[in-house]
Amino acid sequence: MKNVKVKCPGTVANLVCGFDILGLALHEPSDIMQLRLLNEPRVIITNKDNFNLPTEPERNVAGVVLLSVMERMDNKIGFEAEIEKHIKPGSGIGSSAASAAGAAVAANHLLGNIFSNDEVVQFAMNGEKLASGVKHADNIAPCILGGVTLIRSIHPLDIVAIPSPDLYVTVVHPQIEVRTADARQILRKQVLLKDAIKQWGNIAGLVAGFIKNDHDLIGRSLEDVIIEPVRSILIPGFDEVKRKCKEAGALGGGISGSGPSIFMLSKNEATAKATEQVMKEVYERIGIEYYTYVTTINKKGVEVMDVE
Ligand code: HSE
Repeated sequence: MKNVKVKCPGTVANLVCGFDILGLALHEPSDIMQLRLLNEPRVIITNKDNFNLPTEPERNVAGVVLLSVMERMDNKIGFEAEIEKHIKPGSGIGSSAASAAGAAVAANHLLGNIFSNDEVVQFAMNGEKLASGVKHADNIAPCILGGVTLIRSIHPLDIVAIPSPDLYVTVVHPQIEVRTADARQILRKQVLLKDAIKQWGNIAGLVAGFIKNDHDLIGRSLEDVIIEPVRSILIPGFDEVKRKCKEAGALGGGISGSGPSIFMLSKNEATAKATEQVMKEVYERIGIEYYTYVTTINKKGVEVMDVE
């Protein structure tokens, strides 16, 4: 087995109240990555898209992941990657995680799946570190495992898969770029106890809502009193989109990852499409270009498509 092709899904991190600890995988959009095993210690990256991402392995998200796998294999092997990204970098729907997770899963597959899921997540987090300056797994874990995941702890790694109801996800990506590193930089380093208590209640409520398939509880718990008030100022139209989407019947939602994308959960496709319409109207009126996706929760995660 020398060649593998993987489909790497976009993800929504944070799920509003769970900053750095909750995330879910999407069916759309997704990247495609082809990886070949080399019998010499080097990493070669080719981009099959127009995003002009660096191809030097040390500066490429997938590249640093592959270098870390190579090092773990005592530099006896190498990899050649062809990456076709559809998830725009800086969109807030897990573009760097898709590259990192895809590279880690594909490399493990080529090596005969010798690494555990936790080890694959660890490799992939090297890519997130390059992209955002911090190792966080709230995009990586759902990207690899699919569904909704809780990162109870990073040190030591403790990932919990949460049963996910069959919800629809509507995403709008206004075409402005918010760098994750910048969106982290502006956050306050301290929180008030009263805000922390509200946030804990919402995180627990959201997880309970997923497990019980209780749509109203999910909706009530999609509230963020710590991060959203700071970050939403970076996203034109945010408050209006959120209010009008809920009026259109969405359960709730908020900033996807570090933005600028905004996501909304809905219980059926008709509501998810009505929500999309609201998002379109707001950005048409404001005059900012946008993409929208109406999709569902992807329960598989990175998918191995084709092996030679
Ligand atoms: N949890 C991360 C953040 C996700 O909000 O900064 C973005 O990569």
